[in-house]
Amino acid sequence: MNVLVTGGAGYIGSHTCLELLQNGYGVIVVDNLCNSCAKSLDRVRELTGKEITFYEGDVRDEALLRKIFAENEIGCVIHFAGLKAVGESVAKPWEYYDNNLNSTLVLTKVMKQVGMKNIIFSSSATVYATDNEMPLQETSRTGNCTNPYGWTKYMSEQIFQSFATAEPDWSIVLLRYFNPIGAHESGRIGEDPRGVPNNLMPYITQVAIGRREQLSVFGDDYDTPDGTGVRDYIHVVDLARGHVAAVKYVATHQGCEVFNLGTGTGYSVLDMVHAFIDVNRVPVPYVMTDRRPGDVGICYADPSKSEKLLGWKAIHDLKDMCRDSWNWQSKNPMGYGE
Ligand code: NAD
Ligand code: UD1
Repeated sequence: MNVLVTGGAGYIGSHTCLELLQNGYGVIVVDNLCNSCAKSLDRVRELTGKEITFYEGDVRDEALLRKIFAENEIGCVIHFAGLKAVGESVAKPWEYYDNNLNSTLVLTKVMKQVGMKNIIFSSSATVYATDNEMPLQETSRTGNCTNPYGWTKYMSEQIFQSFATAEPDWSIVLLRYFNPIGAHESGRIGEDPRGVPNNLMPYITQVAIGRREQLSVFGDDYDTPDGTGVRDYIHVVDLARGHVAAVKYVATHQGCEVFNLGTGTGYSVLDMVHAFIDVNRVPVPYVMTDRRPGDVGICYADPSKSEKLLGWKAIHDLKDMCRDSWNWQSKNPMGYGE
């Protein structure tokens, strides 16, 4: 079966393409390369020895999508394409609502026209309201997002829920990712953020490689064991495996289901820094600074629904995540720019 992967050249998309190919699926990618480069797909081809059909273009381009569905036999869609920088979304809300909502609307419109009913969507733990008990379950409260990016994920989920009501024979899976880090063990594909990284692990690896002077630890007065923020970090290869499990699930179910993709374990910022230093034997200088506005103290998943219904569970531990993040960064100091 062929899977259409929107945003397949990006960080999570490229790792998912690799897992799909290794599990015998054909892969068709559409990506406008606004936050990635086609080299990631070349490397997936090289690692798997398999072909990927690539269309460079925008998911909001209805004619292009019709052409892709006409030229390929597609059994399932995974929709990664979107903008994801929280700070940028505050400065450029129109771009975020336009890209993230219209890509979903155009894609599902064309799917309806061609009779394609199976879709997996990249949502985020950011949709959960900040006043929930931990761990977060799929039934925990959502909303009260603190930025336009978060609202686009929240609204996209609502759009998919409405479709599922109107089209009962569609099969829709909404995957709420926690904090993906790490890279494929080959060190050939990985996360390549543009500009100054917003997220913790790419910042740590850029400090370790000498591209940044030191890490700022955002807040040491949270109600956590060491005072720094706690998150549920998940290896990107486990996340990619979760998508393969979801592809199998959508083929046999109808309606709209939500799943957490996390490990169920929270680590603090200092846990992460110290684990990275211990595993890789490289220094990571850091300073304590003020809290980052909008951050919560603790966020981690209850992943039991995914284990029960998708038959999926994260298998990589913190050491694997630290080792593979550094393996990618040290082999590709400037990312795909080499
Ligand atoms: P990424 O930026 O590496 O990948 C997104 C890809 O989509 C890029 O290759 C980009 O060029 C492409 N793209 C963006 N807009 C497009 C459009 N209109 N048409 C065609 N291509 C387009 O990001 P990622 O980390 O791989 O994230 C993938 C998805 O997962 C995103 O929807 C993101 O919001 C979501 N997500 C990511 C995280 C995370 O921490 N990385 C967490 C939760 C959810
Ligand atoms: C971020 C996004 C969120 C998204 C999630 C997963 C923000 C505000 N939120 O959340 O929408 O769903 O990623 O991709 O960007 N930290 C530092 N120093 C740094 C960077 C981070 O101390 O330079 C700390 C943060 O305060 C936090 C932890 O590290 O406690 C993780 O931060 P980050 O990687 O940005 O992820 P989230 O804040 O969980």
